[in-house]
Amino acid sequence: MAKKKVIRRSWAEPFKIKVVEPIRMTTREYREKAMKKAGYNTFLLKSEDVYIDLLTDSGTNAMSDYQWAGMMIGDEAYAGSKNFYYLWDNVKKYYGMPYFVPTHQGRAAEHLISKILIKPGDYIPGNMYFTTTKLHQELAGGTFVDVIIDEAHDPANAHPFKGNVDLNKLENLIKKVGAKKIPYVSMAGPVNMAGGQPFSMANLKAVRELTKKHGIKLWFDATRACENAYFIKEREKGYKKKTIAAILKEMCSYFDGLWVSAKKDLMVNIGGFIATRSKKVFEAARNLVVVYEGLHTYGGLAGRDMEAMARGIEEMVLYDNIKARVGQVEYAGRRLTEFGVPFVQPVGGHAIFLDAKAFLPHIPQNEFPAQTLAAEIYIDSGVRSMERGVVSAGRDPKTGDHHYPKLELVRLTLPRRVYTQAHIDVTVESIASVYEERKKIKGLKMVYEPKYLRFFQARFERL
Ligand code: F0G
Repeated sequence: MAKKKVIRRSWAEPFKIKVVEPIRMTTREYREKAMKKAGYNTFLLKSEDVYIDLLTDSGTNAMSDYQWAGMMIGDEAYAGSKNFYYLWDNVKKYYGMPYFVPTHQGRAAEHLISKILIKPGDYIPGNMYFTTTKLHQELAGGTFVDVIIDEAHDPANAHPFKGNVDLNKLENLIKKVGAKKIPYVSMAGPVNMAGGQPFSMANLKAVRELTKKHGIKLWFDATRACENAYFIKEREKGYKKKTIAAILKEMCSYFDGLWVSAKKDLMVNIGGFIATRSKKVFEAARNLVVVYEGLHTYGGLAGRDMEAMARGIEEMVLYDNIKARVGQVEYAGRRLTEFGVPFVQPVGGHAIFLDAKAFLPHIPQNEFPAQTLAAEIYIDSGVRSMERGVVSAGRDPKTGDHHYPKLELVRLTLPRRVYTQAHIDVTVESIASVYEERKKIKGLKMVYEPKYLRFFQARFERL
């Protein structure tokens, strides 16, 4: 018998497991009942009833022993905690922004920034919407305008930088409404709703030039910036030899300011912040934070949380960490391809996004194919995912109709440093089984709809 040639796996996760948390597998019958009780909304399931939780990578990461040790030196003074100053130093060092205001999470930072920068009647162009970002822009009286490249709206298109801004779309908007009505352009990277797709450094530079020409500010949703930096390193010419830290610093150098949900890149369970080079915006944010969050030296966080964030910044730029993180998503993508399951190409940084329109072509968008698919996957195996389609897109505040996004997706998000390859295999095999039985699946109707960010609490019944 011919011997198989060894193909060596050259690397594995750069950590080992020290603490474990038991999880529980239930029966299909149990999960049918649990899903019905939760109104076919995976957000309303009890975590105890979930076997593998891929709802989000937000606040669900495993902290390192270095971060946990930092928790013990939390300085819980009301004002001027030493952890705050250490965190500020690391924000300066790694993001390159001189000014810093902590908040309890990302949307709190979005709230303050939107209030400070947006006037009623303004337009805020962005590379695709994010749910909380857009809502805060609207609550401040602004209108979000999508200026992402068309490729981002096509799940099968394998463009390496689907997070890029379409410069023509942006220029046309500036011509149409005038630069004075655009307080800033907002860029996220990678773009969550597009499937975790990055922007390129070349595109960022071009957006900076265009906005500078018109005197428009440029702000960065840097929530998963290290994943964007990783893709630039892997895919863009001239960056192969640069470190993640150097690429992050260069990205940030083109922005006037940024906000971060620290619950992602920084691998903590809670936290967020604003950082900027504008003294004026800094002073306004430092003033507003005391109204909504807490004193400007803690912003709704405990001292120990800020210490874990500061240490998380040091770990988030480590190449092996981020390679293992994105590598796990890529592994899931390769295995799903074996079964012919349709998902957004190329594989994103933080998640696999199943293409629910292609998965369940017999279910029309007003019967919520992605919501349905997320419920079916849970019922099959106890794997929890999230809808990112018509439910997440919400309603048009002017017409009251649903927004019907081109992308109708189910997101399976990988928390950092939490699950093993066996968990990924169980997940992939469950999705493949649901795919085999897809023709039997029926859609849903919405029976309860909250006013804001409806996807979190909406309830459904089977048709
Ligand atoms: N920006 C992006 C790109 C995000 O993904 C999130 C949160 C936020 C801002 C808001 O931050 O949750 O700390 O208030 N995304 C989570 C997710 C909820 O599951 O993708 P937050």
